[in-house]
Amino acid sequence: MDFKNLDALPSFREFAALKPSKLKDNLSQSRIENSHIRVGGGVSYNYAALPVDKTHIEVFKKIAKEQQLIAKYMALLSGERMNTGENRLVLHQLTRGETLSKVEADGEDKGAFYASQLAKIKTLSTQIREGKMVGSTGKPFKTVVQIGIGGSDLGPRAIYLALKGYCVGKNRPMLDAQFISNVDPDDAANVIKGMDFETTLFILVSKSGTTQETLTNRDLVLAALQSTKIPGFDASQHMIAVTSKTSPLAQTKTLRDAIFFDDYIGGRYSVSSPVGGTIISIALGFDIFEEFLAGAHEEDLNALSADITQNAAMMDAMIGVYMRNVLGYSATAVLPYSQAMSRFPAHLQQLDMESNGKHVNRDGQPIHYQTGPLVFGEPGTNGQHSFYQWLHQGTDIVPLQFIGFIQNQRGEDLSVDGSTSQVKLNANLTAQIVAFALGKSDENPNKEFEGERCSSLLYAKQLTPEAMGAILAHYENKIMFQGFIWNINSFDQEGVQLGKKLAKKVLSGCDGDENLLTYHALLSE
Ligand code: F6P
Repeated sequence: MDFKNLDALPSFREFAALKPSKLKDNLSQSRIENSHIRVGGGVSYNYAALPVDKTHIEVFKKIAKEQQLIAKYMALLSGERMNTGENRLVLHQLTRGETLSKVEADGEDKGAFYASQLAKIKTLSTQIREGKMVGSTGKPFKTVVQIGIGGSDLGPRAIYLALKGYCVGKNRPMLDAQFISNVDPDDAANVIKGMDFETTLFILVSKSGTTQETLTNRDLVLAALQSTKIPGFDASQHMIAVTSKTSPLAQTKTLRDAIFFDDYIGGRYSVSSPVGGTIISIALGFDIFEEFLAGAHEEDLNALSADITQNAAMMDAMIGVYMRNVLGYSATAVLPYSQAMSRFPAHLQQLDMESNGKHVNRDGQPIHYQTGPLVFGEPGTNGQHSFYQWLHQGTDIVPLQFIGFIQNQRGEDLSVDGSTSQVKLNANLTAQIVAFALGKSDENPNKEFEGERCSSLLYAKQLTPEAMGAILAHYENKIMFQGFIWNINSFDQEGVQLGKKLAKKVLSGCDGDENLLTYHALLSE
């Protein structure tokens, strides 16, 4: 396998010379109908309103081949140490099913290890949901609270919120799920205020077992649990851990149980591991989590296609790189027209920006092109009444990533003024795609819309667990392919270390650092 920088590829000049395809000239019924790729889980990716045509795709094929994207993906799936910065394997796809051959590492069959932890989640979640595993005073659990931050919070929280309404719509029994992440004491205080501890189970989630915020929140929650005066209440029966076997947390004697994952699952890629699986299975049901994994696995297999016109993640990745490096667009907005996906943009922010916010290549050499974009987003239609003005008429062009569903989840809707809310939601989504692409001329420049503001659309019949799994895997695989194209390591996160170190220094007195001392004084009583 060859690891070359993007600008060292034979076809890079041709790639860099590609002019954008004009949406005003080209958007049409046949283009919209013929620009689909199947993602998995019933989800399709439509790229009709992106500034590319057949000429671009021919060059993308050359870049994909020269950069050996499929060979690199296969190497990753086969257990090569693709995370060069941390010298680790990258195995999150293996948590949703085996793809190629067995992966053995550290004397262990990794697929079998992940399957064993999944089986443990099945037993634990079933016992809890059936009332066979109960709290220390004999009451069944009704609430589950995840304590974790970053990848141990954002993805699981986003997916729980995305699938909760689906389970309500199906009248399924559910436990309430809550999350504590921020070291801001008001976060934990807000969640545990008035909580019935007898019926609550806390899940402490940290791969390293050393994260300051998570350990602090654990202690805060434990202090609250231990101060209850309920006869027979035992705090240790109300907390389990999801961690790596080598972490200090794994040695804790005062936990009721522990489920393991390992260093080969990056925090931001851990939703499909026990990090997301434990809370989703307890709150919504193990079968829901299994369906979610099946959707993700389907996309993982589709992402193996060497034909870019059949590989949605690769197409999305390549168009993204073209817009970033050739057209110079520095941001992208994720706009789900689904309130259930309200926290998904926040998860994607970590997934994309922590993965591809890199300034050196995978060998540590400087690179001379831009890498991952700024990612932001909000659900539609709310965002329309907030930052869409800037997107429509501002001076920057931001590629938009719309997500939409034909049906709602909860089944409750009403026809008002001749249309249901769901129809109105999707009418807005349709209108926005066309308004951004084609704009509108006007004699008054203040009312003019330039258009040529490009977008993609991920869509499905409904936001089901399979659809959510496929959408998640689509983004994970897109980001992976972009990392390969840029020749960067998408799987480490050294950029978060400096701040962590300095925070420790501040807490231990600033060690004479004048700037730290002065800022700290501003923020101290
Ligand atoms: O601060 C970044 C980070 O390392 C993330 O990558 C990770 O998701 C998060 O912290 C939490 O880490 P842990 O699971 O080890 O507590």
